[in-house]
Amino acid sequence: MTRWEHLIALCPHLSPVVDVGADHGRVAAALGAIAVERQLHRVAGPGTWVIADGLRPFREVGTAIIAGMGARKIAAILEAGPRPRAAVLHAQDDPGWLRRWLVRQNWRIDAEALAIEGQGFAEVIRVFPGVETSSDEAVFFGPRLIEGDDPLRQAWLSHHLDLRMRRIRAIPPEHRDAEKCQRELEFLQSCSRTKTDPQQS
Ligand SMILES: C[S@@+](CC[C@H](N)C(=O)[O-])C[C@H]1O[C@@H](n2cnc3c(N)ncnc32)[C@H](O)[C@@H]1O
Repeated sequence: MTRWEHLIALCPHLSPVVDVGADHGRVAAALGAIAVERQLHRVAGPGTWVIADGLRPFREVGTAIIAGMGARKIAAILEAGPRPRAAVLHAQDDPGWLRRWLVRQNWRIDAEALAIEGQGFAEVIRVFPGVETSSDEAVFFGPRLIEGDDPLRQAWLSHHLDLRMRRIRAIPPEHRDAEKCQRELEFLQSCSRTKTDPQQS
């Protein structure tokens, strides 16, 4: 499935559904959502469009779709409110940072899905208000991805493992990132073993 298909499939349909940064309008059109864009010239396609900064003009929001933006921008939009009853998110730069922020703001990570995008993976995250009890490392990588059976899970784990192994080879052991990288590598290795070979876990 593509990232857009995951955004649509994971939408819980708590109304009103608001797609912030709707851009091409495809996701909003498929969901019958209100499409929000910051600038008039970004409006594309039919449906209901609102020119605004994030969720600000709404009194209440059932589901916020916020995708294809940086993690910090998504956090700023959610922080400015109003707080939706659910959100479906995709941070193109730093999904781990976004998850940690969400958990601190009392969001529970309910479902996650992977799509191939460019040279890497897009991570679509659905959250509801609540307490996330997973470990900090699981939150960073995606607790529902780690424990789930997404068809891209193994390729995604290998991608992250490969990044850490290359980083560890490239930096001296006393570098400030070395310990963190090693910890993440060991965590990912344990996740990889848990699914592929339960004997080793
Ligand atoms: C890269 S596009 C992503 C489009 C689509 N959501 C997707 O996932 O494919 C980001 C869009 O978000 C819009 N945007 C960024 N910040 C916004 C804000 N605070 N309020 C409304 N729209 C915003 C930009 O104008 C741009 O059209």
